[in-house]
Amino acid sequence: MEFRHLGRSGLMVSEISYGNWITHGSQVEEDAAKQCVRAALDEGITTFDTADVYAGTKAEEVLGRALAGVRRESLEIFTKVYWPTGQGPNDRGLSRKHITESLHGSLRRLQTDYVDLYQAHRFDYETPLEETLKTFDDLVRQGKVLYVGVSEWTAEQIGRALKIADEMGFDRLVSNQPQYSMLWRVIEAEVVPLSEKEGVGQIVFSPIAQGVLTGKYLPGQPPPAGSRATDPAGSGFISRMLDDDVLTRVQRLGPIAADLGLSMAQLAVAWVLQNPNVSSAIVGASRPEQVRDNVRASGVKLDAEVLKKIDDVLGPVVERDPAKTVSPERRP
Ligand SMILES: NC(=O)c1ccc[n+]([C@@H]2O[C@H](COP(=O)([O-])OP(=O)(O)OC[C@H]3O[C@@H](n4cnc5c(N)ncnc54)[C@H](OP(=O)(O)O)[C@@H]3O)[C@@H](O)[C@H]2O)c1
Repeated sequence: MEFRHLGRSGLMVSEISYGNWITHGSQVEEDAAKQCVRAALDEGITTFDTADVYAGTKAEEVLGRALAGVRRESLEIFTKVYWPTGQGPNDRGLSRKHITESLHGSLRRLQTDYVDLYQAHRFDYETPLEETLKTFDDLVRQGKVLYVGVSEWTAEQIGRALKIADEMGFDRLVSNQPQYSMLWRVIEAEVVPLSEKEGVGQIVFSPIAQGVLTGKYLPGQPPPAGSRATDPAGSGFISRMLDDDVLTRVQRLGPIAADLGLSMAQLAVAWVLQNPNVSSAIVGASRPEQVRDNVRASGVKLDAEVLKKIDDVLGPVVERDPAKTVSPERRP
């Protein structure tokens, strides 16, 4: 496993990290979840990503149990706040009240005194940005959070937050967590250039497009049993990508991967890691063998000819519009 700096910070993260959205506390039993975490640790993954909202807070509990007993200093634990964790009007968003209360819940569930990275899971148009950033800064000063970042913020939102932090002397954002894959490149036009200039690293999610880029979903055929597309919690999220044109083109990536001696999943993860602004690619897994497959992408170099072949195969199905980076206008 190779390691990269998280943005311009001093923190090193494994360039492939493990995330537990959809899986822990929901799609997979606890035993399988623990086996995936064990496989991740055995393969050299040190960076783990979760969120308060995953599986209605159960995902953090499962991850906390799966990591119990592992030397805390050998791990980077990331979590997030924004999406609802309860019924009340204050159980959501990026107010001082919700951030503070949610972090305390996350620390309890994760069985840790601090998280390495705390991320605003979307932009909150109903809270002054200064209130959110001051709260993040307070949590850093209290030692409960070591670094702060965001997820799916636009370049304009990230830039505004950095300016406020600089003016007020607050801790700066070190990372953004966007969706990024061969199929979804919306950060390339605006978020990446600003982030490179400002020292913000991308911790990218769904690098395998939730399983689509493994090639296991075949055009015109029902999804394979046990896959995310057949899971009640996961199917709604992946369905947008299960389009026959996309799936037909993805099948044509198979020979490109095979020529390089890679699985299609490895090609997909390696592809996002070619972008130097990417600090880590977060992969999900419903079984340990998937983790073992995906980590082999660490250190793989793809030359310009391979990248061009991928672009030629995918052609018009690649999404590049920066306007696709959106946060809800009102808190959910
Ligand atoms: N910030 C955000 O808003 C946000 C949003 C989404 C995700 N995330 C983070 O990013 C993490 C990863 O997201 P993701 O799970 O969508 O990423 P992904 O790695 O693109 O997809 C993971 C899923 O693909 C399938 N898969 C993975 N490797 C495979 C392999 N080698 N062979 C066959 N199937 C394979 C598995 O699903 P099946 O076996 O069920 O098919 C697995 O659960 C999340 O856990 C979370 O930490 C963040």
